[in-house]
Amino acid sequence: MNSILDSRPDLKSRIDAVAEVAGYLWSKGWAERNGGNITVNITECVDARMEALTSLMPPLPIGRVLPHLKGCWFYCKGTGKRMRDLARYPMQNGSIIRIAPDCASYEIVADLPVLPTSELPSHLSVHNYLTGKGLPYKASLHTHPIELVALTHDRKWMEKDAATRMLWSMIPETRAFCPRGLGMVPYMLPSSQELAQATLEELSRGYDVVMWEKHGVFAVDTDIMNAFDQVDVLNKSAQIYIAARNMGFEPEGMTDCQMDELARVFNLPRQKA
Ligand code: 13P
Ligand code: ZN
Repeated sequence: MNSILDSRPDLKSRIDAVAEVAGYLWSKGWAERNGGNITVNITECVDARMEALTSLMPPLPIGRVLPHLKGCWFYCKGTGKRMRDLARYPMQNGSIIRIAPDCASYEIVADLPVLPTSELPSHLSVHNYLTGKGLPYKASLHTHPIELVALTHDRKWMEKDAATRMLWSMIPETRAFCPRGLGMVPYMLPSSQELAQATLEELSRGYDVVMWEKHGVFAVDTDIMNAFDQVDVLNKSAQIYIAARNMGFEPEGMTDCQMDELARVFNLPRQKA
């Protein structure tokens, strides 16, 4: 079967990276059944032949108007599709969509009429915000990392920046590679516009990784591998915290002085209050 990826090495390499990350999500146990979703802004890979493609089905509503996405293209995981399947067959378990000129609907253009993820409101609202701000972020990842989700079942870690401080202090890499910390969104219905709005608000406060209470994490970055890495380092810290608690003690954590030194030497954003 012909694919839009044929003879488009730049586009293919981005979809290959999505497939690679999907495999990691499955092997980490973060992607039960159809759990999690990925979207990538691929607009810079679009050529004239792609522009001429016609929609595989009538346009579908986004549910809100997203003016900064006019003419943008995305690869989206399909709703109900499994990460473990996407890892092998990304174009059968996801599709390429184009935002319509009205900025309120989208068309599925390739390879197959696979309906995008149910979390499209959150993904597209976030891409609209990032594009509008002129930020270089192109990828958004939602996944269900076990230990991070477990933390959100305790009110204490849902307090603003409480989890960030604890996770940063478990191992220096976490602050170095997730320097903006972790925003917190209280439980909201999956795939809802309210969840999309709350995620957007945390992003506008300066976070690029956001926890959805008792559900999962939502991360944005320049590409999908970097988005995955941010979640991976955060979850590693959560595992270290839990391992220490399982050994019967509260982990000491790095001191404020050690954290300040790290921020100074690596030129990281200032410590959260
Ligand atoms: P989709 O299969 O629609 O992407 O949903 C998975 C999910 O994790 C919803 O939050
Ligand atoms: Zn989910």
